[in-house]
Amino acid sequence: MLTNLEHLGLAVRDLAAATDLYTRLLGQPPYKTEHVASEAVDTVFFRVGGAKLELLAGTSPESAITKFLEKKSEGMHHVAFEVVDIEAEMARLRAEGFTLLNETPKRGADNKLVCFVHPKSAGGVLVELCQEIKE
Ligand code: CO
Repeated sequence: MLTNLEHLGLAVRDLAAATDLYTRLLGQPPYKTEHVASEAVDTVFFRVGGAKLELLAGTSPESAITKFLEKKSEGMHHVAFEVVDIEAEMARLRAEGFTLLNETPKRGADNKLVCFVHPKSAGGVLVELCQEIKE
C-alpha cells in the first residue's frame, strides 16, 4: 500500500530562479539542497505541511530532467508516495501489471530508496515510490 503523499517533483530550468519563486510563493525558504550525482540533478526541497515540493534541475544533457524539458514545459514531473517496504510494493505493482523503471530500488535524494513507475502504465503520471533509509 502506498501511504503518504511524500512529495511532488517539479522540473525547472533555472534552479536559483525557481527557488526564489517558490520561497516567495510558499512564504518560507527551502530546508535542503542536494546534488544527486547518480541522476545528474540538483534538487531543492520545501516542506508544505506533511508533504514536500522537490525542485529538480538537470546538470548534464543526459539527465532525465534535461531530456524531459526538451519535450515538455517546466512544472509537474512526478508524484512520490511513501512506502514502508519498497521491495514488497515493487512486487505488488509488478503483479498488478505496472511497468517499473528500475529493477531494484536505488538511492535517491533526501535519504530515500526510490523506484519509478512508468507513466505509460500509470495514467500518464510518473510515480515514485520512496522508502526512508534508516541509518
Ligand atoms: Co522525487
